[in-house]
Amino acid sequence: MSFLTGRTRVCGIIGDPIEHTMSPAMHNAAFETLGLDYIYLPFRVRREELQNAIAGMRALNIVGLNVTIPHKVDVIPLLDKLDPLAEGMGAVNTIVNDNGVLIGCNTDAPGFLQTLRSRGIEPEGKKIVILGAGGAAKGIAFILARAGARLVILNRTASKAGGLASQIAQLYGKSLKAMESSEGNLAEALDGADVLVNTTSVGMVPDVGQTPVPAGLLKPGMTVFDIVYNPRETRLLREAKAAGARAIDGLDMLVWQGALAFEKWTGREAPFEIMKQAAVKALASEK
Ligand code: ATR
Repeated sequence: MSFLTGRTRVCGIIGDPIEHTMSPAMHNAAFETLGLDYIYLPFRVRREELQNAIAGMRALNIVGLNVTIPHKVDVIPLLDKLDPLAEGMGAVNTIVNDNGVLIGCNTDAPGFLQTLRSRGIEPEGKKIVILGAGGAAKGIAFILARAGARLVILNRTASKAGGLASQIAQLYGKSLKAMESSEGNLAEALDGADVLVNTTSVGMVPDVGQTPVPAGLLKPGMTVFDIVYNPRETRLLREAKAAGARAIDGLDMLVWQGALAFEKWTGREAPFEIMKQAAVKALASEK
């Protein structure tokens, strides 16, 4: 890159595997557009090297890192501080190096919320059905509960849905429903729902013929948000549109999590559309 100098600030992403990440494309496009002397690099870090990698971040004065699978939880004890959301969720996707103090943050769930709001949906008082109870569901459930949504959590494994619901109930002091994602329960949960969020991997490449919800349960007036971004139009979203529902794919959430990390590292407003274009291009070149 032509803009590298002796003052270039280094950011990056640690994970394993890392070769499919779209983050370098997004962040470097943003740095270039704003003329910032920063660079963003992918680092494949194996589990057993995580501690060394974080020590390396300190030693090399890397200003910011994103953290992805499998390190989002294990990185926590290696950091100096956590922001409240990362602490509540027990997961970090962004590290800010504040003059040698490593602060763990989470921009995944805020990226989800920002995407909803950018489509004019304010969660307060809305009935929102979350499918899945894994790491992604946890962040989304936390942030939606905090924003005042009425939540129902459904999962293939009912006990995991119940576990997540009780964690949220403890934090926010309100009870929420958790059920197994059987067709009958889905029908009950979706009755009167404003938003349905799929956080499971059902419908993701290579299983593009699958959907987590029977098409007949999707209604006009409902918003269906699938956090999957590969493909952008999952079977769920295709059937949602056909039913007259509003469809939101996972790409904006991915771009917003990057944009929010960018703002923490640079103090500048992120050029969202530039980052999105770069992500779309990177996604297309993966195929
Ligand atoms: P992530 O961090 O992306 O949320 P995860 O923690 O592995 O990933 O969670 C995956 C979620 O997708 C879980 O809710 C999982 O359901 P189980 O808890 O029952 O395993 C759900 N999931 C994955 N494959 C699924 C399938 N074929 N049918 C239904 N749910 C599925």
